Amino acid sequence: EEGLHATKYPWEHEKFTKTFDHQALRRGFQVYREVCASCHSLNRVPWRTLVGTMHTVDEAKAMAEENEYDTEPNDEGEIEKRPGKLSDYIPAPYKNDEAAKAANNGALPPDLSLMVKARHGGCNYIFSLITGYPEEPPPGAEVAPGLNFNPYFPGTGIAMARVLYDGLVEYEDKTPATTSQMAKDVVEFLNWAAEPEMDQRKKMGVATIVITSALLALSIWVKRYKWSPIK
Ligand code: HEM
Repeated sequence: EEGLHATKYPWEHEKFTKTFDHQALRRGFQVYREVCASCHSLNRVPWRTLVGTMHTVDEAKAMAEENEYDTEPNDEGEIEKRPGKLSDYIPAPYKNDEAAKAANNGALPPDLSLMVKARHGGCNYIFSLITGYPEEPPPGAEVAPGLNFNPYFPGTGIAMARVLYDGLVEYEDKTPATTSQMAKDVVEFLNWAAEPEMDQRKKMGVATIVITSALLALSIWVKRYKWSPIK
């Protein structure tokens, strides 16, 4: 069964001449880290990729170091613990899928790295989903025990409850952390996670158009110039 169609929002970063708003990415990462990361992994994102996009080297190092990682086995085959480094990946909240399901009523919180690309509707879908929990399910809606009503989720019964509430995080840039602001920021961040090369790609695209236009104009001029004695 299809869910309710997501509202189309005018995402600034989706415009082809616009890059990500890196202040928004920084806020969005904060939302991921303080809210989503307790259930959802971000397996494809290493700490180092935050450097220069939303954090300084020192900030990213400090966040990596807050986590413990396994060392490579030594000659005796022993594995020890070491603090994280920039080259490590952001750690998952659970050891494995079984542990993740056990903690979530049998439902697996999917990895969010490519979620913007994986779901029909992308940014619009995720925004609608996480802001779309009504206070009460509509009359007549059947919600299985342990599930929450959300019209945007295919089937309308989702294992994830509403997680965003006004004021849940405190942004250091003093942006008011309304539910929709946090949703917008985390969605833009998740778009970056799935497509970190987007800014570069768009800059190349614009440069390509500018250069090919100049070459076309030049070739038209040369053609006219060369043919002018014959005409
Ligand atoms: C599923 C996003 C926080 C538990 C999902 C899905 C998305 C998502 C996009 C996939 C929906 C689909 O399959 O189409 C987020 C975001 C969060 C967040 C952006 C933070 C703002 C959490 C938290 C928990 C959680 C804190 C646990 C307490 C789950 C579970 C599912 C899920 C169990 C699977 C639902 C199902 O298949 O029925 N989430 N989530 N999520 N999430 Fe979250």
